[in-house]
Amino acid sequence: MMIAFPSTRSWFLAFCLLSACAIRALSDDTAYSKSLLKFKRSLTNTTMLVNWNDPTDKLCSWNTPIWTGCLCLNDSFVGLRLEGMGLGGKIDIDSLSEVPLFSLSVMNNNFSGPFPSDINKLGKLRSLYLGYNRFSGEIPDDAFSGMKPIRKIVLNNNFFDGKIPMSLLKLPRLVGLELQNNEFEGRIPDFWQANLTVNFSNNKLEGPIPATLSHQNASSFSGNALCGLPLSPCKPRKSITKIALILTIVLGIALAAFIILLFISRRRSKPLKYSKSVDSFHMEEPTYSKGEKPYKNAEHGKLYFVRKDGERFELEELLRASAEVLGSGSFGSSYKAVLFSGQSYVVRRFRQMSNVGKEEFYEHMRRIGRLSHPNILSLVAFYYRKEEKLLITDFVENGSLASHLHGKRNSNQPGLDWPTRLRIIKGVARGLAYLYKELPTITLPHGHLKSSNVLLNSTYEPILADYALVPVINKDHAQQFMVAYKSPESTQNDRVTRNTDVWSLGILILELLTGRFPANYLKQGRGPSADLATWVNSVVREEWTGEVFDKDMNLARNCEGQMLRLLKIGMCCCEWNVEKRWDLREAVEKIEELKERDSDDDYSSYASEGDLYSSRALTDDDFSFSRT
Ligand SMILES: *[C@@H]1O[C@H](CO)[C@@H](O)[C@H](O)[C@H]1NC(C)=O
Ligand SMILES: *[C@@H]1O[C@H](CO)[C@@H](O)[C@H](O)[C@H]1NC(C)=O
Ligand SMILES: *[C@@H]1O[C@H](CO)[C@@H](O)[C@H](O)[C@H]1NC(C)=O
Ligand SMILES: *[C@@H]1O[C@H](CO)[C@@H](O)[C@H](O)[C@H]1NC(C)=O
Ligand SMILES: *[C@@H]1O[C@H](CO)[C@@H](O)[C@H](O)[C@H]1NC(C)=O
Ligand SMILES: *[C@@H]1O[C@H](CO)[C@@H](O)[C@H](O)[C@H]1NC(C)=O
Repeated sequence: MMIAFPSTRSWFLAFCLLSACAIRALSDDTAYSKSLLKFKRSLTNTTMLVNWNDPTDKLCSWNTPIWTGCLCLNDSFVGLRLEGMGLGGKIDIDSLSEVPLFSLSVMNNNFSGPFPSDINKLGKLRSLYLGYNRFSGEIPDDAFSGMKPIRKIVLNNNFFDGKIPMSLLKLPRLVGLELQNNEFEGRIPDFWQANLTVNFSNNKLEGPIPATLSHQNASSFSGNALCGLPLSPCKPRKSITKIALILTIVLGIALAAFIILLFISRRRSKPLKYSKSVDSFHMEEPTYSKGEKPYKNAEHGKLYFVRKDGERFELEELLRASAEVLGSGSFGSSYKAVLFSGQSYVVRRFRQMSNVGKEEFYEHMRRIGRLSHPNILSLVAFYYRKEEKLLITDFVENGSLASHLHGKRNSNQPGLDWPTRLRIIKGVARGLAYLYKELPTITLPHGHLKSSNVLLNSTYEPILADYALVPVINKDHAQQFMVAYKSPESTQNDRVTRNTDVWSLGILILELLTGRFPANYLKQGRGPSADLATWVNSVVREEWTGEVFDKDMNLARNCEGQMLRLLKIGMCCCEWNVEKRWDLREAVEKIEELKERDSDDDYSSYASEGDLYSSRALTDDDFSFSRT
C-alpha cells in the first residue's frame, strides 16, 4: 500500500491553518491514542492488536509506529493498515474522525454488515481499502459526498449490491476505484475524472459503458452484462422487438399525420390562424360569413382577464394587431402584439396543457393572476380551448438574461457588469421567495427557472417568466423540457421537492458568474444528470483562479470576494443531495447579504480561503498530499 508524500508547502499550510493541533500532533499523541483505543473497543477478535494498551504520548518514534498497524510519516501518525487480522465488529468512524487519518485499510478481515455510511466524516482520507471482507447491502448514494481529497477507493470482493453511488462522481481527485467481485447492479454512471482507473468486473452491471471509460482495460468490465468499448459494441434489441418497434413508430407517425390533417382542416375555419412566415406574421381575416359571430359558443374566443385593472381588449383585436414572433420555446411559440392603444403584450401558445380540466385550469390561472411582485411577470389574461391555451402577459423590453449573457453583441455594447449581475440575482431571489410564499401548496413554485426565463426590463431589473406552470403542463412534457426535472433528484429518484427550484437557482448563479451556458443541463429529454455534475465541476476546478468569472464583467479587485461568495452560494444550491441542499429561505438570505464591493475584512478572508467546494469552513484540500 502506498501513501503519497505531502509537499513541504502543504505541511506549511497545514501548520499555519491549524497550528494549535499541528503542534500537539508533533509533540503529544495522547488524545489520538485514546481515540484509537476507543476505536479498538468496537472491534472483535483484536488478538493482533495486543500492543494497543494504554494511551501513549507518542504513536511514532523515529518514524516507526509503536502500535501494530499504525502508519507513520515524518514521525507523525497518518493512518491505519489493519490487514488480514481476523478483525470483525463495527468500524467506529466517530472515534476515527478524531485522529488525522489519511489512509485506512481493513483489507482481508472478517467485517460484515452494511457499508459504514458515515465514512465521509473522515474528511482527510486519501485512500480507503475495505476489500476482501463480507460487507453487504447497498451503499447510500451520498456515502462519499464531501470527501474531496480521496484518491483511491477499494471495495472489491465483498457482497455490496445496489447501484454504484453517484457521490463517487463528485470526487475530483479519484484515480483508483476497485469494485470488482461484488453484486453492484444497474448502469455505470458517467465518470469524468481524468487519470481514473476502474475495475468493475464480476458484478451485475448492465448497459453501455460510458465513453469516458472506453480506454480502460477490458478485464475491468468482464463478468457483467455490459457493452460498448472496450468490450464489443452494444447490439440492437432482438429482431422481433425491433420489428415491433418499427411498426409502432410507423403506426404512430400515420396516426400523428392523421391528427394533424384533422387539426389543420378544423383550423381552416377558425380565425386563430398564424401565417407560416417566421419573422413576422399577421392574422388573416377571420373567414366567417356576414352576420355570424366568430364563435358560436360564448365562451369561445373570449379572453378571461385575471388582472382587474388595466386595459381590456378582445382576442380578435389581439390577433389582428401587428405582431412579431418572439421565439418558439419548448412549449410553443410566443408573439408580441402591439394593440391600437400602443400597448404591447406577449401571447404565448401552449399545446401541452391538455390533461387538466377546464375548472382546474381556470382556478390555477386565477391564482396566478392574483400574484403581483416587481420581479414576477404578471399574467394579464388567458384564453382556454381544450386543445390550446393562450397566456397573455405584459411585454418586457430588454429581452432575456440568456440573450444578454450568450447572445451576439456589438463590440461597443458593454457586457453586464458585476453590479448589474448582482442586482439581477437579488431580484431573481426575491421573485422566487415571493412565489414560495404565495404558492405554499405547489411543490415547484417556479419549476422552469433558467436564464431565458429571466427577462430584463429597461433598468435591467429581472422579471421571472414561465413560473408555476407545473400543475397544468402535461406530465410527460414537463419531464422532457422543464428545468426542475433535470435536477439529480428527478433524474435519479424521479421525485421533485420544494428544494428543487434551489438547484435551478444554483445553476443560474453559476451561469451568471461564468457566462457559460449549461448546455448539457438544458438539452431536452431526460438525459443522465451526470453531465451536469461534469459541468458544475468543470466550472470550479480544483485550482482556484479568477478565470472562472465571465470576462465581460470587467473584474475589479475590490469585488472579487463578493463574487466568490456568490459562486459559493451557487455551489451550495447545486448540492447533489436534495436533503442536504439549502432551502430557498437560506439561499435568499445568503444572496441578500452580498454587497457590490468587498469591505477590507471580506476581501482578506475570502481571497485566501479558496473553500469553494463545500460549505465547510476550512478545507482539507489545504492539507493536500502532493499529486503524483
Ligand atoms: C519531513 O519533514 C522535513 C522537514 O520537516 C521535510 O524536509 C521532508 O520533506 C518531510 N518528508 C516528507 C516525506 O514529507
Ligand atoms: C481471530 O483472529 C485470528 C487471527 O488474527 C484468526 O485466525 C481467527 O480466525 C479469528 N477468529 C474469529 C472468530 O474471527
Ligand atoms: C467471521 O465472523 C463470523 C461472525 O460474524 C464468525 O462466525 C466466523 O467464525 C468468523 N470467521 C473467521 C474466519 O474469522
Ligand atoms: C493526469 O496525469 C497527467 C500525467 O500523469 C498529469 O499531467 C495531469 O495533470 C493529471 N490530471 C489530473 C486531473 O490529475
Ligand atoms: C489488462 O489487465 C491485465 C491484468 O491486469 C493485464 O494482464 C493486461 O496486459 C492488461 N491489458 C491491457 C491492454 O492493458
Ligand atoms: C479487474 O479485476 C478482475 C477480477 O479480480 C481481474 O481479473 C482483472 O485483471 C482486473 N483488471 C485490472 C485492469 O486490474
